[in-house]
Amino acid sequence: MAKCLINTFENIHKLFLFAVITSTVGILSVSGCGNSIDSYPDDVIYPFRSDLIVDELPKLTHDRLPGPGQLDKAIARIKELGGKTMNPRDLPENLRVELDTELQQNFGTPHKPTVGLSTNSEINALAKSLKLDEETLAAGSKLYRRNCLHCHGLAGDGRGPTGPWVNPHPRDFRQGKFKFISSNPGGNKIKPRRDDIIRSLKNGVEGTSMPAFGLLGDLAIEQLTSYVIHLSLRGEVEFETTRTLLKKKNNVSELFELLPDEEPAKETISEFVKLYLKDLLKSYQKADSKAIEPAVYPNFTDAELVESVRRGFHLFSSSASDAFGCVSCHQDFGRQQLYQYDEWGTLVRPSNLTLSVYRGGRRPIDLYWRIKRGIPPSKMPAVTIPANEESQKIWDLVNFIEALPFPGLLPDDVRGKVYGEAPRGVASLPESKK
Ligand code: HEC
Ligand code: HEC
Repeated sequence: MAKCLINTFENIHKLFLFAVITSTVGILSVSGCGNSIDSYPDDVIYPFRSDLIVDELPKLTHDRLPGPGQLDKAIARIKELGGKTMNPRDLPENLRVELDTELQQNFGTPHKPTVGLSTNSEINALAKSLKLDEETLAAGSKLYRRNCLHCHGLAGDGRGPTGPWVNPHPRDFRQGKFKFISSNPGGNKIKPRRDDIIRSLKNGVEGTSMPAFGLLGDLAIEQLTSYVIHLSLRGEVEFETTRTLLKKKNNVSELFELLPDEEPAKETISEFVKLYLKDLLKSYQKADSKAIEPAVYPNFTDAELVESVRRGFHLFSSSASDAFGCVSCHQDFGRQQLYQYDEWGTLVRPSNLTLSVYRGGRRPIDLYWRIKRGIPPSKMPAVTIPANEESQKIWDLVNFIEALPFPGLLPDDVRGKVYGEAPRGVASLPESKK
């Protein structure tokens, strides 16, 4: 009974109702499925993108979020607020069919997900080296259906039944963008390392509704990671092709401007999809090759640690040329509600760093990576520092951020400026008081 109820995606709502009713009499028995949940029926296909593409963001900041369930309505308002959106349904029928056919041929179906045409040996080799083989993807797809689909959606659009009701919204994978990355800059695109995705899956995303899936075990996490990459590759190819065609008056030649180093054999959508996919796979490979590795964390004495926290405070809050002025966004150390648009057209606020909640992980190395690499889709910039000063300055910032939520850990003078009588908005304190 339970098994057949979760056999189709549409039945998830029914399952929910069923669960609510039966739980009162103690028979919440989806357990009959164990981990052997079926794959999708083989006639289910990934839907063609129909929600708006956000092309330019409005400059506005907001002090509150749209209400629950308002995701697509809020995105539709972006145009009124001075941004630009485009409707994928405006793509002419012939181009749309051509793109959809290419997507299906390259990325298969939820039942049999693939990456690249089986006849393309170069792409196959790249996909294999990134663990994007058919067997791993098929296993990942089943696990995704059971654990992730209700939030992240069938095509990874972040619009599963639960998606619009939680904030931040579950990641929409279709732009190929991730927040919590430790990859060195390189490749044509910013991509996460596999380990970055694995970490988000194992630990969850603290302070959001994204659960930790560590209990599924390492093999399942690997398979899910491959499937997330598959969805984001498919989504990004669809996103960039659709956006470029709509922007450039449906001129297919314009697509190849996105690939300045490639010589296309012919200027067709099929050729573009092949070359663009190859480019993306290479960027993933490059990202995976090496993590950002800081110099070892210095062995501070207590007195040195106090000095480091003090230096970190200066780097964070001063706009002097030797500092970073992080408070320009994290105003009042993030205690102000300054929502801004992120790359998905949803709202994000510079984190309140007095709360000790870190989405991308709380180890010193996690914070190091956040600062060094920034959080690109949320518009938090990467810091630029001469290489010889880099590790020291970033560790100073990390020490300050780790002490910040705990007034007792801050040196007296710093504590006064963060929590004491000093006016909030420390950025504007006169130099003599710092
Ligand atoms: C209850 C809803 C929910 C479920 C279930 C869920 N997620 Fe998430 N997921 C989220 C939210 C919310 C975020 C964080 C959004 C943010 O920080 O902007 C997220 C973020 C992510 C990220 C992005 C990390 C980054 O660096 O940007 C990945 C990858 C991810 N989820 C994968 C999965 C996978 C795989 C599953 C199933 C095993 C899953 N999620 C299940 C809600 C969910
Ligand atoms: C242009 C605006 C901007 C600037 C400048 C900025 N940040 Fe951020 N920062 C953000 C936003 C937005 C977020 C929230 C990102 C999210 O959750 O998607 C954030 C989040 C963070 C986080 C939390 C990461 C986590 O895992 O949750 C830390 C730590 C942080 N910023 C540190 C810094 C430091 C240090 C600086 C200065 C070197 C800085 N920020 C400069 C916008 C900014």
